[in-house]
Amino acid sequence: MIKAVIFDLDGVLVTTDELHFEAWKTLADKLDIKDFTKADNVRQRGVSRMASLEVVLEKTDRAFSEEEKLALAEEKNEIYVSSLSALSETDVLSGANEFIDYLKSKGIKTAVGSASKNTPLILEKTKLAGKFDAVSCGLDTTKSKPDPEVFLIAAKKLGVAPCDCVVVEDSDAGIEAAKTGGMYAIAVGAAEYNPKADVAIKALESLYRALTIFA
Ligand code: BG6
Ligand code: MG
Repeated sequence: MIKAVIFDLDGVLVTTDELHFEAWKTLADKLDIKDFTKADNVRQRGVSRMASLEVVLEKTDRAFSEEEKLALAEEKNEIYVSSLSALSETDVLSGANEFIDYLKSKGIKTAVGSASKNTPLILEKTKLAGKFDAVSCGLDTTKSKPDPEVFLIAAKKLGVAPCDCVVVEDSDAGIEAAKTGGMYAIAVGAAEYNPKADVAIKALESLYRALTIFA
């Protein structure tokens, strides 16, 4: 029986996936990388900041030291965080708040499971902070999705067994992480064609029906 739903953040609860792309694009342009596209960005979804940087650097022959890479990741983060200044509750994806309230009314626990170290800031700005029973994010983990660590920490914080958790994800890395962690996985958006997902939906409004599959 499903006892908890763990939500990815960027691209599932909020529209920040677009802001990540724009910040990486700005950095790529600065590095004279002209062909960094949305297709590349799909592979950045769900993975850590440093892993996302590698996706950008694949597009250049230039070699960077670890120190330079850390500086580039920091530069991207500064661009990204400054773009978050305008973030508000209107950037929460349609249907998210209602579904979280529905889960609460059914006694199903909720958590966030995100690679982002900016998770607390984003939850605060979008007024989602305080809506979840637990938050697990890049500040808690040592391993990035597709490793299941972030979801297993969320389950532990909730006190729910992994086999009783459903993960909602828009990234292939996140679907992989959920399944490796022994959880059910609902794919949304960019991950909708992932064959490892238990069910795929186009928009959060379909979550109610998707959940009945696991009942
Ligand atoms: C994930 C995004 O949620 O967080 C990735 O999908 C991003 O694209 C990762 O790289 C890390 O985010 P942050 O905010 O810590 O740089
Ligand atoms: Mg995501």
